[in-house]
This record gives sequence, C-alpha cells and structure tokens, in this order.
Amino acid sequence: MISSNSWQFGKLSNLRHFIYREVQIAKFDKILDLGAGELQISKELSTAAKKNVFAIDLQIPSKIPDNVFFAKGDALFLPFSDKTFDAVTASFFFVWIKEINQALKEIKRVLKKEGKILFLSEPIYSERFSNGNTLFEKLYKEGLKKLGANFNIEKEFHQDLKKLGFKTYFKKTEGACLVSGEEIFEEIEFLFERNIIDEKTFEILKAESKKMECEICLPILYGWAFLP
Ligand SMILES: C[S@@+](CC[C@H](N)C(=O)[O-])C[C@H]1O[C@@H](n2cnc3c(N)ncnc32)[C@H](O)[C@@H]1O
Repeated sequence: MISSNSWQFGKLSNLRHFIYREVQIAKFDKILDLGAGELQISKELSTAAKKNVFAIDLQIPSKIPDNVFFAKGDALFLPFSDKTFDAVTASFFFVWIKEINQALKEIKRVLKKEGKILFLSEPIYSERFSNGNTLFEKLYKEGLKKLGANFNIEKEFHQDLKKLGFKTYFKKTEGACLVSGEEIFEEIEFLFERNIIDEKTFEILKAESKKMECEICLPILYGWAFLP
C-alpha cells in the first residue's frame, strides 16, 4: 500500500491542518486514527488536539510515540464499545479496503452522538496523471490496481455515507505538484519490491528516474461526515 509517508505526507500537511482547524480538533476528547500505519498522523493529531489519541492497524508499527495508545486490530471489527469516540480519522486508508460500507458501519457504532469522521486524505488514483514518463505512469497505475487500490473511491464514499445517513462535506485538491527524481524512484522501488515490475523494467526506470523530475496531478479527496 502507498502511504502518506511517501512524498505526499509533507505536501498534504496543510490540507490536514485545514481540517483540524475547521472541525476544531482540540474540542474532541477521544480520537481514533484508523489504519494508522507508522503513526505519523496519529502523532500529528495528538499535537493538534493537545491530547493522547487512539490508533489501530492490522500491523504493529516500528515505534509507538508516548502520546498514542496503539491497538493491533481490524477496523472492520473495532475492539471498542459503542459511542466511545468524538472523532474517527483516516488517511490513505479507505482507498485500500474493499469493505468501505462495513468500515463506515463500525465507525458509526463507535462514534458518540455528534461525532465526526475526518477523511484526512484519500487519493483518487483514477485521475492521476503526470507530464513525465508515460511508461512509468502506466505501470504505476496498473500496479496500484493489482495491489487492490479502489479506483472508484469518490462515488462509493458518497453512496455509502448517504445510505448510512451521514451528512458530508467533501473537497478535492486541484492542480499538479512538482515531484523530484528521488521521490519518483521511491515509487519505482515500491513497484519492484511488490513484484509489479520485473528487474529489467526496474533498471530502465531507475536509470531514467534520475532525470525524471515531473509534475504529478493526483487529486486528493478530503473532508468530514457527521450524523445530523
Ligand atoms: C497506506 S497505509 C496508511 C497509513 C497512515 N494512515 C498514513 O496515512 O500514513 C494503510 C494502512 O491501513 C492498514 N489497514 C488496512 N486494512 C486494515 C484494516 N482492515 N484494519 C486496520 N488497518 C488496516 C494497513 O496495515 C496500513 O498500515
């Protein structure tokens, strides 16, 4: 899975902080970060909210910061009682799970009345394009599909949230950003490590990546939802 700890993490910091400000994150008492990965965002949330936050993931992270309570577990079967949290957050998470509806039902169950789901960043891979190497772009998109990324996230989100009675506020980023050869190489390595490209293709792309600085457009869906 591509995580926001690759080149996107820093670039999306302003967007996440926009959400923290808009929902007044500090007024939430209990916050749960779903599919929290290496906990960078859980840690950031804790700083923004000025309190410890809960985080859950199928994998144990390499390091757990002091201000994060980590639980190894499945977001589809949350090990928490009903109405526990004021906010549930996720970043680069829903795009990777098949069972969006089940995850949203679980969130609805553990959210307190007037609680919010914060969608910190979900990439819309179907709309990704770059003005750089077209072979790399093609392989990259194919690779994401093979790994199970949801290319229909925007539509499914709206449908599933509506079905469950949520009111939503969503936005989508526009425009492209400059990505360095080194950052592109990170993505090439990602494909190679997961056997999406063979060694020969890897070597060709690796050589090209050094001069591959390019603009990548990857719209990011962000916002929040609550039960009226
Ligand atoms: C792409 S990473 C995102 C990590 C982090 N949120 C970030 O933005 O840096 C997706 C994470 O979701 C976790 N994950 C996938 N399915 C899950 C599930 N059903 N329950 C809990 N975590 C899950 C993966 O283990 C992975 O760490």
